Amino acid sequence: MSTNDSNNSAYNDFHLQFIAGEWQKGKDDSTNTNTNPYNGDTLVEIQQATKDQLNEAYDAATQAQEAWAKQTPATRAAVLYKVVNILDQRQEEIVDWLIKESGSTRIKAMVEFGATRAITLEAATFPNRVHGEIRPSNTPGKENFIYREPIGVVAVISPWNFPLHLTQRSIAPALALGNAVVLKPASDTPVTGGLLLAKVFEEAGLPKGLLNVVVGSGSEIGDAIVEHKAPSLVSFTGSTSVGKHIGELANGGEYIKQVALELGGNSPFVVLKDADIEQAVKAAAFGKFLHQGQICIAINRVIVEDEIYDDFVERFLAHVKTLNVGDPNKQDTAVGPIINEKQVKSLKEKIAKAQEEGAKMILSGEIEGQVVPPHIFTEVTREMDLSRNEVFGPLVGIIRAKDEVDALSIANDSMYGLSSAVFTADMQKGLRFARGIRAGMTHINDISVNDESNTPFGGEKNSGIGRFNGEWVLEEFTRTHWISMQNEPREYPF
Ligand code: TAP
Repeated sequence: MSTNDSNNSAYNDFHLQFIAGEWQKGKDDSTNTNTNPYNGDTLVEIQQATKDQLNEAYDAATQAQEAWAKQTPATRAAVLYKVVNILDQRQEEIVDWLIKESGSTRIKAMVEFGATRAITLEAATFPNRVHGEIRPSNTPGKENFIYREPIGVVAVISPWNFPLHLTQRSIAPALALGNAVVLKPASDTPVTGGLLLAKVFEEAGLPKGLLNVVVGSGSEIGDAIVEHKAPSLVSFTGSTSVGKHIGELANGGEYIKQVALELGGNSPFVVLKDADIEQAVKAAAFGKFLHQGQICIAINRVIVEDEIYDDFVERFLAHVKTLNVGDPNKQDTAVGPIINEKQVKSLKEKIAKAQEEGAKMILSGEIEGQVVPPHIFTEVTREMDLSRNEVFGPLVGIIRAKDEVDALSIANDSMYGLSSAVFTADMQKGLRFARGIRAGMTHINDISVNDESNTPFGGEKNSGIGRFNGEWVLEEFTRTHWISMQNEPREYPF
């Protein structure tokens, strides 16, 4: 489809791959049948890409990148600003795709759209913000220049939960900074995680070959994406297990490359005894159940000080009972469907395990299709599966802490370190507590689910390596080159 054809018409035909600036049929024998997780409708059938097509994408990216890096900052910025305009014009159809493809509730789809728009706008400033340095030298007559250059070709592998945003927050900065991209979206969300964005960038006039979207299964073409010679950086967002594998491949294969890994989380949400309980209850419900809990920074453990534990539980239960569950397209639905049957099965196992381990289930409900209603467990201990592992669903365990010190110890008792939150009426206490948490992000009197395009987003421990947004992603997606200039003959010892 040419740029003109795509203007003004709705984006609804997504059965082709986007490689080397052309919409082409996948050549693999296998097909991705993309379905609506709420009602099972088939949205599109995509013939998957072969490794030859992946190679074609990398060749195109490598070739296109050189000329793109030489474009003026204003030219690159203009494409990104155009992308923002197109997102705005097409907001309704994009939100609609998020609802039907990823099972996003309308509320979540709007949150995701806003975050996507914000990072695109932020990325549009990068071409003019990237800068080098001049450093003094201890060698007489020498000047040191530190250049920041595009890193080259970036491989992006993204997940299904916030597909539009978690893809865009890699590809928009990468392209803005003069790089080219080969993207593999998650198999559950090939449209909102990739093909739809390809249409937007195409319509915005991005030169051919700079953005390639290759739809294929991670287990089939994932390794080839990472091991290929072309990418200098692999930007991966997904599970810790796949992320570890990618880290090994990127550093143990023939070609060493940088990795940015945004992985799983196990966010603690701590309510100290002086907190505004009503506000903490509302925050806990939103931070836990937004997108059915399928968010890496969703609240995974609610930790409440003993003195207010029973009061908090009672009010939380009453509030969660009021949430509407079901059709994600309805304006007031809070909890929609789970992405796929495999995830539903894993949640059923977690419910059974929590009960086996002695947690008390105080709220449950019938699982219909892929809709899992909120489940609340009390008297959960730090050793239980619900506390140790990422739930990625609408189940929540509430842990009792003896006091503030115990609450901090529980909060830190995890192999993850992505986001976290603490509620208290005393901001100094909150700050002290926050600084005691080993995590990339902590929010005082708010939920763990926060992302702003100008603040560093990322984790430590098994939650990953690297930071998104603002100058942090600007550094991540460029390379540093020290160039020295010897202005007068230097004296050598021999
Ligand atoms: P994964 O199963 O890890 O999938 C993520 C992406 O990796 C998908 O595109 C997947 O492709 C691909 N993939 C799978 N195997 C691969 C391989 N061997 N080589 C290369 N790529 C491969 O995660 P998910 O189930 O989509 O997402 C849920 C997880 O992601 C959770 O743990 C969540 O916490 C984490 N997550 C983290 C963040 C941040 S910011 N830290 C954000 C969102 C999600 P296929 O779909 O084709 O398998």
